[in-house]
Amino acid sequence: MAASSRVEDEAFVTLATNDTYSLGALVLGHSLRRANTTRSLAVMITAGVSQGMRHQLSEVFDVISVVDVLDSKDAANLDLLTRPDLGVTFTKLNCWRLTQFKKAVFMDADTLAMQNIDELFEREELSAAPDAGWPDCFNSGVFVFKPSEATYQSLLKFAISHGSFDGGDQGLLNLYFNDWSSKDIKRHLPFLYNVVSQAFYSYLPAFKQFGSEVKVVHFIGAVKPWHHGYNTATGQVEETGGGGHDQRFLQLWWSIFMERVQSHLAPSVAGERQVTHPTYMGIVGELASLKISPPASGGSDSYSKEQLEDRQRQFEWEQGRIDYLGIDAFAHIQSKLDETIKKGYWRDFV
Ligand code: UDP
Ligand code: GLC
Ligand code: MN
Repeated sequence: MAASSRVEDEAFVTLATNDTYSLGALVLGHSLRRANTTRSLAVMITAGVSQGMRHQLSEVFDVISVVDVLDSKDAANLDLLTRPDLGVTFTKLNCWRLTQFKKAVFMDADTLAMQNIDELFEREELSAAPDAGWPDCFNSGVFVFKPSEATYQSLLKFAISHGSFDGGDQGLLNLYFNDWSSKDIKRHLPFLYNVVSQAFYSYLPAFKQFGSEVKVVHFIGAVKPWHHGYNTATGQVEETGGGGHDQRFLQLWWSIFMERVQSHLAPSVAGERQVTHPTYMGIVGELASLKISPPASGGSDSYSKEQLEDRQRQFEWEQGRIDYLGIDAFAHIQSKLDETIKKGYWRDFV
């Protein structure tokens, strides 16, 4: 877009503290570009984002702002939320320091714009949509705000004296902007601007009626789109069983990811499938190594059901959700080990 048609002093802002959330940020950025936004795109990152990923982010975001990690370290409240990993969402507060923008819209890295949402810039601080779990609170995955160093300092002071009732930014921001639900209806964004991707389970008729008008989808919860598998032969998402996200939303996330992100992540990976990518670790490495064209054997480059279940299990385990009585019970682990040894899979690791 020509610089002249861009509104330089207003921006969509997101946050990624590591390479994995950066995948979400990249897809979000592309979804906004694809919807022809006229606003700037900014991403806040921390030291945990690799150089390679920073380069990828710079291809879609106009501004990359390196910020310090802020962590609530509030284990008790994070436990209530069942998300021990969300203390770092306090890092989000840094968005108030982006004072080169007069107004901005923060969006979580796990959100996706379905259409142009530039009209949000007509709203004032703090505008947000109700949280589906407790509609008298707003969900802090999408909000309109006014950058200001004074507000940032005041939020920090408030965090120290009041804390957050969920251990993350949402509990803090709802305490700070505590008249959101009562003062001014214009600050209530329609739910369409922050639709939980699982919403149709709770109110299917409304989803049927209004689903086509969704403006922003939010893949809330521990299982994100990037934790699912993708069948490169059929172009279909293969759910790992968790998350409960609507298949159509997941499919759109993956289509954007495969079309605009994945190919750039792995320019050198054209031949044999590699288990991990030389530059990226973990999930990002696995996704960077996906081959788009199906192998000549006619098979696909997707994960088998068993691999997907294992991946999901590993993820749950890493998040501290250990199913001691079920799949992670010792007897189960023992039989899994026996099976692995019998099949000779261990050969791959020596
Ligand atoms: N986030 C991050 N690194 C983390 C956890 C969270 O960068 O380790 C950022 C990211 O922008 C993410 C947001 O904080 O979208 C809120 O976390 P998340 O979306 O996982 O929370 P949920 O919406 O599922 O409650
Ligand atoms: C919520 C929001 C997310 C926020 C988290 C922690 O569920 O979706 O944006 O970071 O809670 O407060
Ligand atoms: Mn989120």
